[in-house]
Amino acid sequence: MRILLDNFSKSFGSTKVIENMKLEVGSGEMLALLGPSGCGKSTTLFAICGIHRPTGGRILFGDRDVTDLPSQMRNVGVVFQSYALYPHMTVAENIGFPLKVKGVNAADIRKEVERISGLVHIGNLMERRPAQLSGGQQQRVALARALIRKPDVLLLDEPLANLDAKLRLEMRSEIRRIQRETGITAILVTHDQVEAMSMCDRIAIMKEGEIVQLATPADMYNDPRTAFVAGFLGNPPITFLRGVMKEGSFAMPESEIRVPVSIKAAEGTKLTLGVRPEHFNPAGDVSVVGKVTFAETQGRENLYDVQIAGGSLLRSIQPVRNDVTVGDEVKWAIDSKGVFVFDDDGRRL
Ligand SMILES: Nc1ncnc2c1ncn2[C@@H]1O[C@H](COP(=O)(O)OP(=O)(O)OP(=O)(O)O)[C@@H](O)[C@H]1O
Ligand SMILES: [Mg+2]
Repeated sequence: MRILLDNFSKSFGSTKVIENMKLEVGSGEMLALLGPSGCGKSTTLFAICGIHRPTGGRILFGDRDVTDLPSQMRNVGVVFQSYALYPHMTVAENIGFPLKVKGVNAADIRKEVERISGLVHIGNLMERRPAQLSGGQQQRVALARALIRKPDVLLLDEPLANLDAKLRLEMRSEIRRIQRETGITAILVTHDQVEAMSMCDRIAIMKEGEIVQLATPADMYNDPRTAFVAGFLGNPPITFLRGVMKEGSFAMPESEIRVPVSIKAAEGTKLTLGVRPEHFNPAGDVSVVGKVTFAETQGRENLYDVQIAGGSLLRSIQPVRNDVTVGDEVKWAIDSKGVFVFDDDGRRL
């Protein structure tokens, strides 16, 4: 089921949170709403769900205008960060509850509960109560409960935020598998870029109530339109250098660094250079001397912060090596093919 936000706006009193948002989520697609705290992700999701009434614009499911429909008539499945299972009910009763409310008979409920619990792999937990489950198991129950009514749309707001790192990893791929198997159209709200990149077909990056870029994870990473987007994706994050255009290169007044850039800008134009950590290492083409101020091993890779002339930092990620520690001077190099150039307002050039 396609979801369309047509000039959707939402204010709380005089506070405008979203203004004229346009967004189309394709049928069967999983889309991430990604952005910093307070940018309006949940507000958007709540409006799609029917909890918030838009101040302006329309919301369509397929060709049907649902703007004025109450939540329970929209046929949406919802999973939030706190999954709020009913503590006194068993797992089976929790999952079957939405059907019971609808008046479905006991035999049919049992059949559906069995089907859906198989899908989310909790068939062996049916008689337990929520308190007797791990966080990941509880989240699976919440997901099963959201899916049992065969919703047209699945809405997820930070569903993994309460889980520990290992469970988060496991549930990331599980939610994606279930979304694919059911073919349901899904929107995932998150401020975790790794979650958005790994789980979704496309990502909408939001800033202050606006979608600033909408693209596949790969396009978003390789072709960010702004410094904000470039800074939001990538772990460890990109580093930025400030400089000016000089004779076809990015130049820093405080250092000898000259990075050839293939953009058109007048001499002296202020530029920001974005360098991802994988593009600063011994193999690059533009030599840079600096001092290691931070070193950390991440198991398979090492992470370094290197302070260069003028005090700016460059970050480097490299296969594990034991010959460099904090305080060392290094001569590594920027891969000029991998850099991004932005103007003074953060727009990509
Ligand atoms: N019921 C409300 N009344 C007034 N202001 C609200 C209300 N709900 C949200 N806001 C404001 O709207 C803005 C967006 O909030 P929203 O909850 O959508 O952010 P978010 O992107 O989900 O952030 P987070 O990542 O922290 O969950 C915030 O400035 C928030 O204070
Ligand atoms: Mg939120």
